[in-house]
Amino acid sequence: MTPEEFRHAGHQLIDWIADYRADLENKPVRARVEPGQVRNSFETNAPTGTIEFSQLVEALENKVVPGITQVQSPMHFGWFPSNASLASVLGDIASSGMGTLGISWVSCPSLTEVEEVTVDWMRQLVGLSENWRGTIHDTASTACLTALMAARERAGNFCLQSGGLQSLTQPLVVYSTEEAHSSVEKAALLAGFGRDNLRMVDMDADTWAMRPDALRQAMQADVEKGCVPAAVVASCGSTGVTAFDPVGDIVSIAQSHGAWVHVDAAMAGTAMMLPECRHLWDGVEGADSISWNPHKWMGTILDTSLFYVRDPQHLIRVMSTNPSYLQSDVDGDVVQYRDWGIPLGRRFRALKLWFHLALDGPEAIRERLRRDLDNARWLADQVESAPGWALASPLTLQTVCIRHNPGGLSDDALNEHTLNWVRRINDSGAAFLSPSMLDGRWMARVSIGVESTERQHVEKLWEIAQHAAENA
Ligand SMILES: Cc1ncc(COP(=O)(O)O)c(C=O)c1O
Repeated sequence: MTPEEFRHAGHQLIDWIADYRADLENKPVRARVEPGQVRNSFETNAPTGTIEFSQLVEALENKVVPGITQVQSPMHFGWFPSNASLASVLGDIASSGMGTLGISWVSCPSLTEVEEVTVDWMRQLVGLSENWRGTIHDTASTACLTALMAARERAGNFCLQSGGLQSLTQPLVVYSTEEAHSSVEKAALLAGFGRDNLRMVDMDADTWAMRPDALRQAMQADVEKGCVPAAVVASCGSTGVTAFDPVGDIVSIAQSHGAWVHVDAAMAGTAMMLPECRHLWDGVEGADSISWNPHKWMGTILDTSLFYVRDPQHLIRVMSTNPSYLQSDVDGDVVQYRDWGIPLGRRFRALKLWFHLALDGPEAIRERLRRDLDNARWLADQVESAPGWALASPLTLQTVCIRHNPGGLSDDALNEHTLNWVRRINDSGAAFLSPSMLDGRWMARVSIGVESTERQHVEKLWEIAQHAAENA
């Protein structure tokens, strides 16, 4: 494709995307395809020729769109807000269009330095001190894995340079809670700690936050057994109920054992753009690493996960490689982001952040977050005052966890009832919710925060939910 052909096709595609986004409210929220339907709509044999661009757009419309769950729809209340602001989409297009290669500072100085700048802007916007330096990873899962590998090497005295974990005589232990995201368990296993050395610390029965006394006891018990507390992953905004582990207490307990503290604020880091929310992660300055995803509630399109550390030199020592073909005269003077994580080749992700901040602006983003918090409070109030309805956990931010109990149902029957009314809503296409389990019982999560979700959409959802629960 020549640049001229690209110009022509690109204009058509941008028009198509703009129309697509403008029409989202009229599309069923959950994808309406059967397993295999999208795959079967494609030829099984690899293409031998080419087609016109217009045919490709037609196929996009007919084959791909039906298989998309519309997470940008104002009636999407599932999982978490996965906003993709159009301003950041433009940054993503610019990034792809320039076709840059991030493998060293020399391969694209701008990629490195715009990332340094935007990551530091984000640090300021959430009120973190200048003690933090950061980078952009693809996801919070990768960030957590990176953090736990850094923690492992600190506790294991850089054993990766000798016999690795297998040479240690004292097992290294990681602490988190059952409410932490599944990526935490995955990271601990992939970082080599082993399931036997992953402790799920008891949580407060009301808030679902890690109990500091339970963490202290668990660490003490491990030390007495000859194990080494290596890391704690504190959730600031857990996935299920947006619980906030008490970071300040966790930091002081972990520090007394020399253990690393990683703060997983994937979803709720965005809330820290609001000064009134920052008390929720009090003590965060004492942690060793933090990750949060602008690609969730804040709205910079996937994949934009921020990862901050207080001691970049430690991270670099764990992660760096220095093959001759990547060396240059400026190596001592510049940041080499390949040494801050796992992959070598990196995309120019910082453009998405830059475009998002430049075109939408932090003030408008803050206003939208406050709107979502108000809408969540409104819904929680309705739920608390409606007979048969109750909050399943306290409201902390924008996720309202609810149950409807018509009365007289056993635990099993109540579970079935919850799944039934949520299924009715999801099958209707009018809205989408993702139920999840809390303490072994199903609940419905209403995660408010899509860019286009206004109060009228939350009111509509509440009506739909009451109707579905009465008829389930
Ligand atoms: C608290 C928390 N941590 C981690 C993740 C994983 O995020 P990612 O998809 O960026 O790996 C999620 C995703 O929902 C989350 O809610």
